[in-house]
Amino acid sequence: MNPGSPVHAIPDMFQPVSAPAEAIRQLWWLVGGISIGILLVVGGILWWCATHFRARPGEDREPPQVYGSNQIEFAWTIVPVLIVLVLFLATARTIYDVQAMVPPKDALEVTVVGHQWWWEIRYPGLGVVTANELHVPASVPGARRPTFLTLESADVIHSFWVPQLAGKTDVVPARRNRMWVEPTETGTFLGQCAEFCGTQHANMLLRVVVDSPADFAAWVEAQKRPAVADPRVAVGRAVFESTACVSCHTVAGTGADGTFGPDLTHLMSRATIASGAADNAPDRLRAWIVDPHAIKPGALMPAMKLPDDQVDAVTAYLSTLR
Ligand code: CUA
Repeated sequence: MNPGSPVHAIPDMFQPVSAPAEAIRQLWWLVGGISIGILLVVGGILWWCATHFRARPGEDREPPQVYGSNQIEFAWTIVPVLIVLVLFLATARTIYDVQAMVPPKDALEVTVVGHQWWWEIRYPGLGVVTANELHVPASVPGARRPTFLTLESADVIHSFWVPQLAGKTDVVPARRNRMWVEPTETGTFLGQCAEFCGTQHANMLLRVVVDSPADFAAWVEAQKRPAVADPRVAVGRAVFESTACVSCHTVAGTGADGTFGPDLTHLMSRATIASGAADNAPDRLRAWIVDPHAIKPGALMPAMKLPDDQVDAVTAYLSTLR
């Protein structure tokens, strides 16, 4: 973890730090500006008519009734059509610009797989697998390095959304959707699943850590290594490897090679557990192993019902997976 890199606690689409999000903000101001303008004009005319033409005391006859005016009907048809045309063209141009981006030669390719309720993150060209916290390099002047994401789902429809980096893209079973980000600022940017996907949809959180190119290279090197065997936690490792943990989780360099749950090889390099539902602190990790549903009701990981000393041993073992 890089202590110097700030966590942007509010995922604010008006503070973009990446090309697609910047284009979306500009479009928002155009569409929002036109919409607010229409609101003011229509609301103003309505208010003026309501006060100007209201019945005065002592007035008992109807105002003159006017039927049919080609000019007025023509105007209130043409003006909205022109406004909608402007909104349509501006939106279509932004969508086209974002989608037309072709991956440059040294673009980073990442595959993100949505699961109920966590994110699997694979870097096929780098041999790295992690979960819930996507690391990408920042683009710096003279060395642009956008990240292209291929989005897949293991179960139902999810949606990948990190507001400061790009617009939402749905994650659909049996489909591969593509999107890209090109952050220019380091830091941690928050996002989350943006499509209702079951009981823990709200806790399907996402962090994108934008590293400097050197920090990113160091992170990749650390993630590529298998887990270090620490003899002091051999008991916990033995418990872990003799229970159902290994059918769902991978710890590279050991017999644990399940893929139903997050890869734990470098669990301690992540700031959170349970897809952002809890901080990655020893007491939270222990509570998670004892009963995941106390932290995330409905989570697909079962409570392992281990005796206390075994829970302590497994927690100690997992805490060495740096
Ligand atoms: Cu995944 Cu909502």
